[in-house]
Amino acid sequence: MDMAPYFPPLDVGDAGLSALARGVIGSEILKVAAEIRALKAKGATLCNLTVGDFEPAYFPIPAELLEGTRVALAEGHTNYPPSDGVLALREAVVRYYERELGLTYPVESVLVAAGARPMLYAAYRAVIDPGDVAVYPVPSWNNNHYAYLSGARAVEIPVSESSNFFPTAEQLRPHLSTARLLLLNSPLNPCGTVIGREPLRDITRLVVEENARRQKAKERPLYFLYDQVYWALTFGEAKHHTPVELVPEAAPYTLLLDAISKSFCATGLRVGYGVMPPAVRKRMADILGHVGAWAPKAEQVAVARLLDKPEVLRPFLSRMSGAVKARLDALYGGLQAMRAEGLPVEAIAPQGAIYLSARFNLFGRAFRGKPMTTNDDIRRCLLEEAGVGLVPFQAFGLKTDTGWFRLSVGSVSLEDIAAALPRLKRVLSAT
Ligand SMILES: Cc1ncc(COP(=O)(O)O)c(C=O)c1O
Repeated sequence: MDMAPYFPPLDVGDAGLSALARGVIGSEILKVAAEIRALKAKGATLCNLTVGDFEPAYFPIPAELLEGTRVALAEGHTNYPPSDGVLALREAVVRYYERELGLTYPVESVLVAAGARPMLYAAYRAVIDPGDVAVYPVPSWNNNHYAYLSGARAVEIPVSESSNFFPTAEQLRPHLSTARLLLLNSPLNPCGTVIGREPLRDITRLVVEENARRQKAKERPLYFLYDQVYWALTFGEAKHHTPVELVPEAAPYTLLLDAISKSFCATGLRVGYGVMPPAVRKRMADILGHVGAWAPKAEQVAVARLLDKPEVLRPFLSRMSGAVKARLDALYGGLQAMRAEGLPVEAIAPQGAIYLSARFNLFGRAFRGKPMTTNDDIRRCLLEEAGVGLVPFQAFGLKTDTGWFRLSVGSVSLEDIAAALPRLKRVLSAT
């Protein structure tokens, strides 16, 4: 006899949840990705520039990391790691930062976690009391969500192409006296830009000045979180700098976050590390220990061994960043050529990370019988008519419709880009 499966109601809906859970917003990028999957399932030809990830077929992890993880598993590294990271990895990070970034930190400053994400969350939780001010530029990656989760009062600094999408010291100055946490990311997701030495030095000096004032007034400090997960990926004239290298007095207030996710194309392996004042590190480790957000032990052991091998890392990085840059250059070159023909597009020359910023000014053009008025209209038009998937800056906290988009190249081939450019041109040329 055929029996229909019986599913009792599984829950009572959102009403049963906490206010925090009811208010949380999931990843906007994943929503866009779901639409792309649906179109692909219907057989559409697509160039998917939406995902901030690496397609392993184009961007494999270092062979030594793969083999090192296998070896570490076979050695029996299958149990809990220390919740703040395997000591060998924390020591390797000290040497790695000294060698590659010229930074001298004690091992007590190094925290390891399951990627940069948990550390970002833990930093907010360790520093922010509900109502405390977190200052960050918009667009930026996920600060709006972490501010929400920690109950921070967000002070969002609007940034534009005129400053490479970074805030200036002048823009930040009026907000720092009330801030608990300032956040900056370079190379920048979503814009693919890199903050210059002078602007970063000026901002860092402000942080030091503000903390000198607070020390006298016996007030809690202002912390500066600098997310440098893409630091290994800079191109041409652009150079990566850290606040601490430029203004060493900033070290007691600065948290530097990093991970193997982007530097070694290892987003799925979940190993992140950061250096920070030891008291902050201790509490972040305690918070993350309860969440269980430690990195898998075998992978930590493998990364510890890898970081000590510049002879492996440097050629890997030069190959990988060459492949990223070739894709970004192809896109940028194609868009610039369209611009030169008078088409409504502009882009920022690639500086770092795996992203290109481009503005498609299709406002007012017809799509499905209606004039386009929002970035999302433009996104859908380019997806459906040109088969090109892009992420609008709205996914990075921007509220206004400016026509700017993030184009991410980690999951496409040069051939995908070459095939997409004529399709884009056709749509941009249509009146
Ligand atoms: C600026 C920035 N920070 C942190 C992360 C998260 O890194 P992880 O995958 O190591 O958690 C990302 C991921 O896209 C990112 O773009």
